[in-house]
Amino acid sequence: MMTLLAHAKINLYLEIIGNRADGFHELVMIMQSVDLADRITLNPLNTPNTRLLCDHPLVPTDHTNLAYKAVMLLQKRFPHRTNRYGGVEITIDKKIPVGAGLAGGSSNAAATLFGLNVLWQLGLTRIELQELGAELGSDVPFCLAGGCAIATGRGEEIDSLHNTPKLSAVLAKYTSLAVSTPWAYKTYRQQFEHTYLPLKDTASLEERQARVHSGKMVGALGTHDATAIGRHLRNDLEKVVLPAHAKVRQLKETMAAQGGLGTLMSGSGPTVFTLTETPDQAQSVLQSVRQQISDPDLQLHLVQFTSQGIRQES
Ligand code: C5P
Repeated sequence: MMTLLAHAKINLYLEIIGNRADGFHELVMIMQSVDLADRITLNPLNTPNTRLLCDHPLVPTDHTNLAYKAVMLLQKRFPHRTNRYGGVEITIDKKIPVGAGLAGGSSNAAATLFGLNVLWQLGLTRIELQELGAELGSDVPFCLAGGCAIATGRGEEIDSLHNTPKLSAVLAKYTSLAVSTPWAYKTYRQQFEHTYLPLKDTASLEERQARVHSGKMVGALGTHDATAIGRHLRNDLEKVVLPAHAKVRQLKETMAAQGGLGTLMSGSGPTVFTLTETPDQAQSVLQSVRQQISDPDLQLHLVQFTSQGIRQES
């Protein structure tokens, strides 16, 4: 048996560059792990079955769950090992909000890959695990890497940033509200395709270099300039999600008025976060938001940046 913590991520930066030949979007993102985590327990079974248990009503327990898909992927790729070790029962203790833009499902898949690599003695390197993870979802490789990283391509190419500051954040999400990631990207394409760079055009490389703006955020992270980090937060998907969800727009306005370093939607939303330098400042932002929005549907979490994506507990 093995227990793992699977951490959530927030996007400090998400810039959409253009279309890719595979139908996805070419992105530049900066992702950061936070210490809000699901607990994943892997129990080897003597039978070849895969079983998934989770008591959260919105989490599927069948083959559509990304953690379940992770098992199926390894079984398909390494049939000899699977025959030798049998199946596995995965129990997910869900703490990360679902459909939230926090990579909850992806981190569960990452933890499953990480754990089964050990339990089934597959001997895969982290790079190999990340390549497998990319087949499950664009955010899975980052969830395996953890910490702070630049993610390019469709989000699966990870360059870790080291020695970045450990800030705090308040995460806010309306429990009953979820945003579909495919919907967010599709809507963005409908509205902004005319701004996309023609990636196949060789001349576009220079244009691309001139138009990708993540350098300032990378610089701010490198110099631990918390004010600049707050100033350079960016998420292009806000342009389609905020107009479609007035509640999220108002939430962002309320949070931004509480004096943190900066406020942004994470991923395809609808989670909104405010960064602060210290946990005490985050606590004060959390209390102010709670006073101003008394809606019990609004869940608030105080988190710290962490350098870990997946952590083995036992
Ligand atoms: O990779 P993942 O399964 O998380 O992506 C979910 C959906 O988000 C994709 O099916 C696609 O519609 C959209 N997406 C995209 N470009 C990316 C990542 C995701 O268009 N780089």
